[in-house]
Amino acid sequence: MKVHRHQFDAVVVGAGGAGLMAALYASKQVKTAVLSKLYPTRSHTGTAQGGIAAPLGNMEEDRPEWYAYDTVKGGDWLVDQDAAEILAYESIEAIIELEHMGLPFDRTPDGKIAQRRFGGHTRNFGEAPVMRACHSADRTGHMILQTLYQQCIKHNVNFFDEFFVTDLILEDGVVRGVVAIEIATGDIHVFHSKAVLFATGGAGRIFKVTSNAHSLTGDGMAIVWRRGLPLEDMEFFQFHPTGIYKLGILLSEAARGEGAVLINDKGERFMERYAPTLKDLASRDVISRAIYMEIREGRGIGGKDYVYLDMRPETINRFKSAPGGREVTPEYLEQKLPDIIEFVRVYLGIDPMREPVPIQPTAHYAMGGIPTDVDGRVIRDERNTPVPGLYAAGEVACVSVHGANRLGTNSLVDLVVFGRRAGRHMAEYCKQADFAPLPPEPEAFTVEMVERIRNGTGEERVPIIRNELQETMQTYVSVFREASGLETAIEEIRELQERYRHIRIDDKGERFNTDLLEAIELGFLLDVAEATAFSALNRTESRGAHYREDYPKRDDENWLKHTLIWRQDGRVTFAYKPVVITKWPPKERKY
Ligand code: FUM
Repeated sequence: MKVHRHQFDAVVVGAGGAGLMAALYASKQVKTAVLSKLYPTRSHTGTAQGGIAAPLGNMEEDRPEWYAYDTVKGGDWLVDQDAAEILAYESIEAIIELEHMGLPFDRTPDGKIAQRRFGGHTRNFGEAPVMRACHSADRTGHMILQTLYQQCIKHNVNFFDEFFVTDLILEDGVVRGVVAIEIATGDIHVFHSKAVLFATGGAGRIFKVTSNAHSLTGDGMAIVWRRGLPLEDMEFFQFHPTGIYKLGILLSEAARGEGAVLINDKGERFMERYAPTLKDLASRDVISRAIYMEIREGRGIGGKDYVYLDMRPETINRFKSAPGGREVTPEYLEQKLPDIIEFVRVYLGIDPMREPVPIQPTAHYAMGGIPTDVDGRVIRDERNTPVPGLYAAGEVACVSVHGANRLGTNSLVDLVVFGRRAGRHMAEYCKQADFAPLPPEPEAFTVEMVERIRNGTGEERVPIIRNELQETMQTYVSVFREASGLETAIEEIRELQERYRHIRIDDKGERFNTDLLEAIELGFLLDVAEATAFSALNRTESRGAHYREDYPKRDDENWLKHTLIWRQDGRVTFAYKPVVITKWPPKERKY
């Protein structure tokens, strides 16, 4: 296998919003490379739909403090409140910066950035919904990704497109670079660097029904976990309420922000019962559970396992559910939500302006991930000790600004606010650090893994193990959980990990060997699933997106703390970190 060597001050792994923002800032000061297993503009940030929050107050009064509070409450008080305040206050500057970079936000009639409602975003600490989400129709993530990529090109960031990072070089606790496979050739590349920032996104593909792209296989999380570092709060995985039935494709919460409602088999707007104040705009964990309660109690459509998202103008007007109770027309909705209307037409063959849309909750977002401080520095223990030179930002990271449940729009805000902070800090670090020497044969782990998979002669097949993993996670580790199901999941994951050691792939070649890449990704998925299931079994309370039927109450006395999970010699261990409380002591969450 051919091995190439490169040297950069900073290496960013992943070219979504967080990676690009970090690279943009780092590259202003130090020599920076971005490695992405995709072409950058295919990154998953591009699929984010409904909006990016900032309390600009362009449509109605809003304040950063209300936004920070909503974030804390949405996260069921597991949010580190210093991070929530940074998010809320710095979001304003970040949005204006994106605007100045040329991002084509929708506009109010007087030319300001237009804003819309989103779940859990309220005025005056929960009084009523507020219009806080800045948007470009329902293609907000696409616009952010294109804008940031153009800026990176303008500032001569060095891109290595379709380079699949497989390992972190970490010796004596200090970062020395990464190892990657060049997908086009199969060659191995060693990137020697002073700092590495992971921005590889989430791991939604551990589940069967997910809004996540096929590429979201938890790479960054698994890579650092394999190198003996902890993952944080892995038990918290968000299910977005409105995925297209069976397909999981996202239908933006912006639809409900514009007035769409959820309807059961009896034609009831059932969220009125579960969240009397915010109704269909309660937080996602609350709504996903409510949908499953309706289904369990026989009020799914036709007694089946789905309900309707009704975005017909006649329904919105009948319920007066659009902001201010104003009338909406099909033309208005087509302009505000063009992509999701098209998705329904294409994937379901129905017209959402005339018919309600079958939906079910879809695995959407990992609140947990690689633990970091508010400057993106990865920390190695419950005392917040940083790993010199190692950074993470975006969904792969856990700051923790989302706590036990993320508010809609806050992933995009997280990317730009904490991506920028991490990029800046990394540049400062690189300016004062020396290159730590590379160990002999830093590529050895990757070469051995590739050879083992390519030459494997066992009977096990990658797609079969992956399907079984997704089925297991969907059955036992999704919206509702309990001990015996989680134990079954862990047992099954362990068996799948054993079977994974005996896989065989068909493509033995070097160029664009997607068979090989999928096999490596499956290894990452199995590790992330293991961390998720163990953490879910460990937390014996219900909080945010983690709902334990055998422990249905939130337990602040014992569980107002973050989980750190490690794996050593095949066994997992836990430690805990206190939640940072600045202004808002925990209270009961009501919507
Ligand atoms: O519903 C949506 O548009 C998704 C947004 C998000 O996950 O933040």
